[in-house]
Amino acid sequence: MKIGTPLSPSATKALLLGSGELGKEVAISLQRYGVEVIAVDRYPNAPAHHVAQRSHVIDMTDALAIKALIAEEQPHLIIPELEAIATDALVEIETLGQSTIVPNARAIQLTMNREGIRVLVAEQLKLPTSRYAFAATFDELQQAINAGIGYPCFVKPTMSSSGKGQSMLTSTADLETAWNYAKSAGRVDTGKVIVEAKIEFDFEITLLTVRALNANSEVVTHFCEPIGHRQEHGDYRESWQPQAMSARALARSQEIAKLVTDNIGGLGLFGVELFIQGDQVWFSEVSPRPHDTGMVTMVTQRQNEFELHARAILGLPVSTHLLSRGASAVILGGIDARNVVYNGLDKALADPAVSIRLFGKPEAFAYRRMGVALATAETTDQAREKAYEAASKIKIEAS
Ligand SMILES: Nc1ncnc2c1ncn2[C@@H]1O[C@H](COP(=O)(O)OP(=O)(O)OP(=O)(O)O)[C@@H](O)[C@H]1O
Ligand SMILES: [Mg+2]
Repeated sequence: MKIGTPLSPSATKALLLGSGELGKEVAISLQRYGVEVIAVDRYPNAPAHHVAQRSHVIDMTDALAIKALIAEEQPHLIIPELEAIATDALVEIETLGQSTIVPNARAIQLTMNREGIRVLVAEQLKLPTSRYAFAATFDELQQAINAGIGYPCFVKPTMSSSGKGQSMLTSTADLETAWNYAKSAGRVDTGKVIVEAKIEFDFEITLLTVRALNANSEVVTHFCEPIGHRQEHGDYRESWQPQAMSARALARSQEIAKLVTDNIGGLGLFGVELFIQGDQVWFSEVSPRPHDTGMVTMVTQRQNEFELHARAILGLPVSTHLLSRGASAVILGGIDARNVVYNGLDKALADPAVSIRLFGKPEAFAYRRMGVALATAETTDQAREKAYEAASKIKIEAS
């Protein structure tokens, strides 16, 4: 692997499609190896824009806009960091062979639509998932639930993330609200929703799975220690690592993650979301990129998930070694306002085992993730307490 000099004709260039807090950390990790990073988002001053060598604001669902930008920048690596992208353009670009899509265009297509990945995993790979159906109309949704999915169940837009448009239904009374919410709040209306039976899990994990080259240039799969997390309204609030689990459930989790990521292919880090009950494991979904719950690895691992992703896509060696137990707690906006100010950073950081990341987003919303508190401790329970306490000391106010 050769890397050039940034901002020169020899530069190794990476284009980030999506410039949120995860993209920002990927950008920093790549820059540490001298990669030139170009950050793209749909709004100005997104987190990764703050650190990239160049930035652009475009509509990433517009295939022509994406192709024009790639023709202008000629990146070696194209790293999609979000789920609303004109994937047809990525397929076309991959065929031309001048840029590598990370991990590959098919992975982005499969995972940006819940239908693609669910059909692959449940029907082709025949791995366990919740019982599910797709519905294009209200009647189809009602029929699918009545025909066997039953209650409680989840209704989600087929294209959405961070819980947007998602609801849990406990009876017929919830059906209409759930349908309308899913139809209106998805990132892109594919015309379809997915309905999934609720899995009564003991806990859920993200298994960070890395496909990286070894010294003989063969692809090898590495697993991080499992990350436990707590979700509210389909969005993550806290995570911790390692999540204690039985040896059998862990082996099964790794087996499922390997089968799914082998099928997806390419190099990089994947966040495989799994539900666990006793020794039983169900696949939920997978991100072909660093995962929000994996931010905890910024304090727990020798190489955090962003560093692992950067190394893997550059063809460099990786290690998933855990250094300490730890936890993360999300800092939410709490208010709807632009140009907010953050108070209490000094108090939050009083404990030396605590780290804080503020993402610098130009606009806060009540439930928007504006930062994260990270902590290490002897036990994950202690780390969760520290992270939660630190997060609660950050006060976000209008300026
Ligand atoms: N079938 C299910 N059974 C039990 N819990 C579920 C099910 N589907 C979703 N959930 C709960 O809702 C959370 C969010 O669901 P999911 O991961 O599908 O949504 P998402 O919008 O893709 O979220 P994100 O982008 O944050 O991962 C899950 O982590 C889990 O806690
Ligand atoms: Mg999820």
